[in-house]
Amino acid sequence: MPGTGLRVGVAFGGRSVEHDVSIITGLQAVEVLSERHRPLPIYISRTGSWYAGPELRDLAAYRSGQAPSAPEVSFDLHRGRLVPLAGGGSLLRGARRQAPIELDVIVLATHGTQGEDGCLQGALELACMPYVGPPVGAAAAAMDKIVTKAILGAAGLPVLEHMALRREGFERDPEGMVASIPRRFSLPVYVKPANLGSSVGVSRCVEASQLQEALQLCFELDRACVVEPAVEGGVEVNCAVLGRPGAQGRVSVCEQPVAGEGFLSFQDKYMGGGKGDGEGKQQPAAPASGAGGAKTAGDAGAAEGAKAAEGAKGPGMQSARRLIPAPIGEQATARVQDLARRAFEAFGCAGVARVDFLIDAAGEIYVNECNTIPGSFSFYLWEPAGLPFADLMDELIEIAFAEHAENGKTTTVFDTNLLAQRAGGAKV
Ligand SMILES: Nc1ncnc2c1ncn2[C@@H]1O[C@H](COP(=O)(O)OP(=O)(O)O)[C@@H](O)[C@H]1O
Ligand SMILES: [Mg+2]
Repeated sequence: MPGTGLRVGVAFGGRSVEHDVSIITGLQAVEVLSERHRPLPIYISRTGSWYAGPELRDLAAYRSGQAPSAPEVSFDLHRGRLVPLAGGGSLLRGARRQAPIELDVIVLATHGTQGEDGCLQGALELACMPYVGPPVGAAAAAMDKIVTKAILGAAGLPVLEHMALRREGFERDPEGMVASIPRRFSLPVYVKPANLGSSVGVSRCVEASQLQEALQLCFELDRACVVEPAVEGGVEVNCAVLGRPGAQGRVSVCEQPVAGEGFLSFQDKYMGGGKGDGEGKQQPAAPASGAGGAKTAGDAGAAEGAKAAEGAKGPGMQSARRLIPAPIGEQATARVQDLARRAFEAFGCAGVARVDFLIDAAGEIYVNECNTIPGSFSFYLWEPAGLPFADLMDELIEIAFAEHAENGKTTTVFDTNLLAQRAGGAKV
């Protein structure tokens, strides 16, 4: 698609604990898209205000925590365009009103709540706007760890057993809920909010005395949580998939993120390791087999970003450690790639998703989750697979247009003549 020069909105930020990571993904996309297109950064603040303008390309603009200086806009749900809110957000001050901004497509670089869970996707569907990102249903299902287990299980994919617990039950009988966990699983277990990401609110409980606090934390952050047995002494492996429903997905090389101490914390994922925020008693990930050939690479959200987005590698955002390709041997790699493709299909994903796995000490592979808007669009897993970042973005845009066209083929008008047949009043 070189030279087509599309007007591409890139949305990032949002009301999410992954707000900052999303800014990095967004600015990486803006940077690489500017090689072939006309990207427009669209920043969604922590409180949900939208801003658009070239000033938003500078990472430094976000460091102060203040709202950026770009014009505030609203998204027109009917026409799918951005409407500048002149004069401090009032549409009524006509004199300073600017023309609406028309876009060809919007790239969603939004991670987590409201951006990766179907909310924003729903708004774009209402506006008939082509977008790079998962369809509403895939986004909502993959964001929820309880629904994820159901979908993966129904597709015959290997998942860890789990308990699904709700806040209401905890409020009614906290001791009873705590006591139910060791009756079902032997410790250690992982306790995780059902709808968050980036390891926020995740606890590893080695002793029963830790369960109450872990549940309390989860239920402060979410209405539901999952509890599952800990995979001990194994490794984590991720694999990205590119495609759309109805077509065979393409798989990337696999990566093995390496935890600093214990499980992969937010710190490990985005801030170059250091002390994890977990229990830290789990052994650091070790290769399951010595296939070799892997090199330590930079982090999805940060270090590789510095390559693509000038200045994205700011203080505290050094590279997290990951091995690419994951040194797990050919057989396990092929199995992971096959499961990743099948998980992508089971959710009905479109665009790029990253499927994360846990592999135990015996080599048993479990699908852990599917990230439907992965950090940095997983470009660092596609480049070694022969797909440069700029080409990946073009493929994603092509998928967005293909999905939009496909959805447009669906009939939404059903002429029943019902109203004409109803004589008399409107009472039903
Ligand atoms: N059952 C488990 N066994 C071992 N480690 C786990 C387990 N569940 C989660 N973890 C660790 O916690 C991290 C975060 O959990 P995850 O399920 O990926 O949630 P999130 O959506 O927050 O990324 C994982 O990357 C892994 O390091
Ligand atoms: Mg995860």
